[in-house]
Formats: sequence, structure tokens, C-alpha cells
Amino acid sequence: MKYDIKNIKLAQHGALRIEWARNNMPVLGLVTKRFKKEKPLKGLTIAACLHVTTETAVLMEVLKAGGANVAVCASNPLSTQDDVAASLAKNLKIPVFAIKGEDTKTYYKHIVSALSYEPNITMDDGADLVSLIHQHPEKYFRKPVLGGTEETTTGVIRLKALAAEGKLRYPIVAVNDALTKHMFDNRYGTGQSTLDGIIRATNKLVAGSNFVVCGYGWCGRGLAMRAQGMGANVIVIEVSPLKGLEAVMDGYRVMTIKEAARIGDIFVTVTGDVNVIREEHFGLMKNGAIICNSGHFNAEIEIKALEKMAKAKKTIRDYTVEYILKNGRKIYLLGEGRLINLAAAEGHPASVMDMSFCNQALGVEYMKKNYKDLENGVYSVPENIDNEIARLKLKSIGVSIDTLTEEQKKYLSSWEMGT
Ligand code: NAI
Repeated sequence: MKYDIKNIKLAQHGALRIEWARNNMPVLGLVTKRFKKEKPLKGLTIAACLHVTTETAVLMEVLKAGGANVAVCASNPLSTQDDVAASLAKNLKIPVFAIKGEDTKTYYKHIVSALSYEPNITMDDGADLVSLIHQHPEKYFRKPVLGGTEETTTGVIRLKALAAEGKLRYPIVAVNDALTKHMFDNRYGTGQSTLDGIIRATNKLVAGSNFVVCGYGWCGRGLAMRAQGMGANVIVIEVSPLKGLEAVMDGYRVMTIKEAARIGDIFVTVTGDVNVIREEHFGLMKNGAIICNSGHFNAEIEIKALEKMAKAKKTIRDYTVEYILKNGRKIYLLGEGRLINLAAAEGHPASVMDMSFCNQALGVEYMKKNYKDLENGVYSVPENIDNEIARLKLKSIGVSIDTLTEEQKKYLSSWEMGT
């Protein structure tokens, strides 16, 4: 079996951390039990381009339990946990191609390695794998691809753009669009793990800081809420009037990035956009300002401009680079501008990935059953699957909710009754 990882000797350490994640993923555990019996994924070969974390390893176990063959590569050069990669190769016998800190060339070489298993299902996080195969269809569509799944907001945006041009060659389930994904993973997962990444990289006190959140979508809302909970003065930057207004009414200060640049202590981008913090803003920043990104690509901060503006730079702590600007001020860039929660911390906690990856596993099962009836487009996770995941998650944490009485059902579906 082929693999390209940092060090196979890390496998035991990885196995223990995967066990910890598995213990915190009870809903996925239920899916595993059923998959073991029913083998619904038999005949599938899945190329999974995901962050190689402990939770991803648990997802890989589920897919194997369902009868699928899997090959894994990283969906970000800096998000791989090398001990997990080792355990996937050694203990799960899964071909894995991922090394934390790999350069861009190796990153793409690893995607190609995963594709060499001729997948009939793709599983992506950010759509780099899907984008690659669509750029070279002659190489990668020799055998038909039945369908795929996509994990994140940025990936779904790219896939919808591909579909709008009529170029998407098979149907894809947008896992991100499931409520049991973005309402929890993007909000609470990113909220907590982004702060975790910033704190591990810098050990800065969040309380009392001016904490600038660029983008008030699902991730930004979670991050703002958690930073405020730690005592930060949160400032929100938006381009959408609705989201900007929502942030105002949620109690945050809202202003332009140019205004915030002068007063922010910690800046985080979570927009999925490009060059949100740019050359014109770096020059305005206070001495000691910290900048990082938790959006999918390292495109949200104009790093090239920062490099040009700096007269010196050095790595002062792990994942923290100090830039000394010509004006003498120091600015700190975390995690090379890549997803800080995965670069400097461990990504989302397992209990939230439990739901996201349930959507992945059940999304693949859905795709296998239904691909023949689907067009080459981007599909939501069916509502019944979404609801069932929420029901099982509540059950797993011992929370009961009410059910509608017959009278209430009738009332809620009628128009005659007023006061
Ligand atoms: P979203 O679409 O809910 O929110 C993005 C927000 O950014 C929108 O409100 C939009 O108006 C705003 N925005 C766009 N351009 C802007 C600009 N120039 N300045 C200020 N605001 C701007 O998206 P969501 O789900 O919050 O995801 C955001 C990014 O985070 C995506 O790239 C997504 O893939 C990524 N993501 C990262 C995770 C992580 O683990 N770090 C987890 C989930 C998503």
C-alpha cells in the first residue's frame, strides 16, 4: 500500500487521539454500526480531500465500515495532523498522502496520488480536488465518477460557479448547506477553534482587546460571540447591509476595515473573499497588531503586500511571524494566513464534527442510491437526513424535546382559526 506521510512511527500517538475523537462522535458511531451490517457503500472508491484530523480519521473508519475503499489527501497544506496520517496508514491501511507544512507542489502531487485510485466518488473540502479533475477531464474521467460531496462554504461557491457554466460533470451533495452542518460546525466549531488557534499561537490575553472580525456570516457570528464571551471588544466588518445591521443589533461595533485598522489588536478574516485586509490597511495598524485568517483559503490577507512593506521578518513563535514595517511598527501574521484553527490548533472539536461528518457519510450513501436520477448539479442534503442527524444528536446528549399534539398539528396547518 502506498502512502506519503511524515513519520509512520507517530501512528500510536495518532491512534489514541483518534480514539478520543471517536468517543465524542456518538452519532457517527450509530452510522458505523448500521454500515457494518448493511455495507451500503460496497463498490465505491472514494478519494477524500479533507483536513487530516482525528475526526476525519473517524469518518474514514465509517466509510470503510460501509464497504468503501478510500484514499485520503490533505485539503490544506498546513492542516494535516501527522500522527493521524500515520495511524490512517498503519492501523486503518488507508493510502494517505498528507504532510503538515507541505509546499504547494507537494499538495497538488498528493491530490494526484489520491486520484490514482480512480475514485467513483469524490469527497472534497474547498473543491481543490474537483477543480483539478475538471481542468484535466481527459486524465481523470476515464472511469465514470458517480457523484461527490463538498464540506465547506468556499467549496460550495466554487461548485455552483462550475455548475452555472454547465461544466460540472457529476452531481455533488453540498454538505455545508445542511443545517446540522453550518449552524453548528461553522458557528460554534469555528468560533471556538479559531480562538483556540490564536491563543495557542500567541498566548495573548483576549479580554480587553479590540477584536476585529471580518465577515459576519456563520463563522464570523460564532467567532464574534465567543470572543465577546472572553471579554474582547468586538468590532465587525461587513459588506452586506443585512449582516452589518445584524451585527449592530447583536451589540457589536460595525465599521469599515480602514477605520478598524487603526484600533484593532487582533484581526481575523472569515469571509471566503480575497484581499480583505490589504496594503493600505497594514500601514495604519498599531504596533503589535495580530492578523490571521480562518476562511478557507489564504487569500483573505494580502500577504504579498505585507512582505513588500516589511524591512525585516522573523518567526518569533510557532505559527507567528513578526514583520517589522518601514514605519518601525511590528505586525504579527499567524499561520501563514491559512486557517488558523487548523494550522495552530486542532480544528473543530469532535462533537461538532460528529454532525458534519454524519452528513458526509449519509451524503455518500444518498449519492450511491440516487446518482442515476440526479443532474450534474449541486444538491442539498435531503431534509429528512438533516432532521434525523439533529434528532440523534439530541438523543446522544440526553435532551428530549416536545412533539406536536394532534390539535397543534391541525392548528398549524389551518387558515380558518384566528383568535
Ligand atoms: P458566509 O457566507 O456565511 O459568510 C461570509 C460573510 O463574509 C458574508 O456575510 C459576507 O457578506 C462577508 N464578506 C464577504 N466579503 C467581505 C469583505 N470584503 N469584507 C467583509 N465581509 C465580507 O460563510 P461562512 O460559512 O461563514 O464561511 C466563511 C469562510 O470560512 C469560507 O471560506 C468557509 O469555507 C470557511 N470555513 C472555515 C472553517 C474553519 O474551520 N476555519 C469552517 C467552516 C467554513
